[in-house]
Amino acid sequence: MHTECTIRFLRSRVQRWRRAGEHIALVPTMGNLHAGHLALVEQARRLADRVVVTVFVNPTQFGAGEDFSSYPRTLEQDANLLVKAEVDLMFTPEVEELYPGGQGCGTYIEVPELSDILCGAFRPGHFRGVATVVAKFFNCVQPDIAVFGEKDYQQLLVIRKMTAELCLPIKIVAVPTVREIDGLALSSRNAYLTDEQRNSAPLLYKSLLQCKKRILSGERNFAALASRAESELHAAGFEPDYFEIRRADNLAESTVDTDELVILAAAHLGKTRLIDNVVFSL
Ligand code: PAF
Repeated sequence: MHTECTIRFLRSRVQRWRRAGEHIALVPTMGNLHAGHLALVEQARRLADRVVVTVFVNPTQFGAGEDFSSYPRTLEQDANLLVKAEVDLMFTPEVEELYPGGQGCGTYIEVPELSDILCGAFRPGHFRGVATVVAKFFNCVQPDIAVFGEKDYQQLLVIRKMTAELCLPIKIVAVPTVREIDGLALSSRNAYLTDEQRNSAPLLYKSLLQCKKRILSGERNFAALASRAESELHAAGFEPDYFEIRRADNLAESTVDTDELVILAAAHLGKTRLIDNVVFSL
């Protein structure tokens, strides 16, 4: 595996592959890799000749008081995992390499509306930071395919919309969420949970499944279902930011006629903010 930290060397390597007619897949990550990331890499491996993985803790997607400085950075361990997963190139730039104009006054990508609801309402500027860094990676690598996890469902839709509206010729591929045996979605932030919180954490996914079951058995008062789930989570020690039943294609409010639904939840458990979702058809 090659490791590059400058855009110049990244580009020259990728260009050689492209000139040889090879297809390139990109997997953007913030590192501290787990089985969820490795599932993205596996999918990328299946779909392309060359796989590029970025490992970069992107400062612009963290708000003031969030965990940018404490976010786990495990570059050596990540590199070993990526070698085993037969990744061709790991890109690990410094912040200045990706943000030459500085973080405060540089150029940003905005994906309006979709970025302002759900997680965007609780983390202002988060999706602007995500869209900007992903656009930079798309521009530097110019991949044929980019692979993202369904766990960050709103992020996935923001990136799809940005890619379509910037007319980028990149296929966005979604990979289902990888879970622990008890249902907890894998996330680097799970490491922040105490033992006691870790025991309660799977309740978030259970509440999504319970709500899905209620909808499939005919309940259609979405507002009542969501508020009941929020109260149940609250009683179990969570501080929910939201619990919402939305249209799966664009996260607009669902109606009784919506066929493709997604139930999304974000909730704090102690100092850890967990997110999860389930997507299903009626
Ligand atoms: O999902 C993530 O890990 C990040 O939001 C991403 C897409 C790598 C952008 O920093």
